[in-house]
Amino acid sequence: MTNVAIVGASGYTGGELLRMLLNHPEVEVTEITSRQYDGVEAHKIHPHIRDSGLVFKNKQPSELEADIVFTATPHGASMKIVPDILETGAKVIDLSGDYRYKSRDVYEKWYGMEHTSDAEAVYGLPEIYRDEIKKANLVANPGCFPTGAILSSYPLIKNNIVDRIVIDSKTGVSGAGVNPSETTHYPNIADNVNPYKISTHRHMSEIQQELKGFEGVKVSFTPHLVPVIRGIQTTSHSFLNEENEDITPEEIRELYQKEYGDEYFIKIMDEGEIPHLSSVRGSNFAHIGGFEIDETGRLVMLSVIDNLVKGASGQAIHNMNILLGLPEQTGLTHFGLHP
Ligand SMILES: NC(=O)c1ccc[n+]([C@@H]2O[C@H](COP(=O)([O-])OP(=O)(O)OC[C@H]3O[C@@H](n4cnc5c(N)ncnc54)[C@H](OP(=O)(O)O)[C@@H]3O)[C@@H](O)[C@H]2O)c1
Repeated sequence: MTNVAIVGASGYTGGELLRMLLNHPEVEVTEITSRQYDGVEAHKIHPHIRDSGLVFKNKQPSELEADIVFTATPHGASMKIVPDILETGAKVIDLSGDYRYKSRDVYEKWYGMEHTSDAEAVYGLPEIYRDEIKKANLVANPGCFPTGAILSSYPLIKNNIVDRIVIDSKTGVSGAGVNPSETTHYPNIADNVNPYKISTHRHMSEIQQELKGFEGVKVSFTPHLVPVIRGIQTTSHSFLNEENEDITPEEIRELYQKEYGDEYFIKIMDEGEIPHLSSVRGSNFAHIGGFEIDETGRLVMLSVIDNLVKGASGQAIHNMNILLGLPEQTGLTHFGLHP
């Protein structure tokens, strides 16, 4: 049995890690940390997690005794905690943005703070980086918007099909974490669709990093907050390049099937089938559909994920399975909560 610990376990992604890890057959959750709930039983904060026997402790990172540690902490906090955990010999999966960037300058520009850690990480998108993840000591779990956006566009970029991608995403409110704010206050979000940071959301830089690795494609991104609790629906409008203006939807679909055919967590929708948030809620699956091209040469692709699962904690457990050499779907096979 592998011992795992969760730092920041009182938050939303920490709660999701607990929900899934407590049913994982190959690991035991031995420690959960919280600064504000020291000595409090897990179910007092996460009422759905009963009989775990776990109690939050306000422990220093260097005092943790575990083989794998998840840091479910805000950006800025993770980079202060992770180096001390690595010193203990544990492998770390960090859920924040702190270790996702190849360039420190890009991180500092988009996150507006100095980056103070030299620890080296692998970008933890298993469908693309599994060989690197296997050897990593530190895995940077991808952002929630980037997960859905990158997966739904990667085959287009890899095969050099388009020269511009405009990504439009709708997210549920749990993406903002457990602490309430004016933006997430019920009267401000209910019965409403709220575009925000329409050209400046920091996840755009992460999406660009991963998709612009193949030169020459312009990638832009606009998020919207919608009154649902979980889930991210992404619509991407991609514009075919000159060499591919005659490509057919069937040929695009074949590219996706070739790229993702063996991927357990990616489901390619049948022709005419629209992916729905309710199909993936609570699960680690990404549903990808669309595959329609209009008369202007615009290809419309759609994807849905649960921001707290495939977009965070489920993907983190997928990364853990890879680090431990386990079958990748271990503990993650449950379907979504439709309706
Ligand atoms: N929510 C999502 O959909 C989502 C998706 C992908 C990635 N992420 C990322 O995952 C991380 C966690 O997100 P979340 O939604 O779970 O956030 P959250 O609900 O706000 O929980 C974060 C927890 O971290 C602890 N914490 C805060 N500041 C800390 C510090 N300076 N040092 C140590 N612990 C600290 C807090 O617990 P105590 O105060 O009890 O110590 C808090 O409960 C963030 O980096 C976020 O960007 C979130």
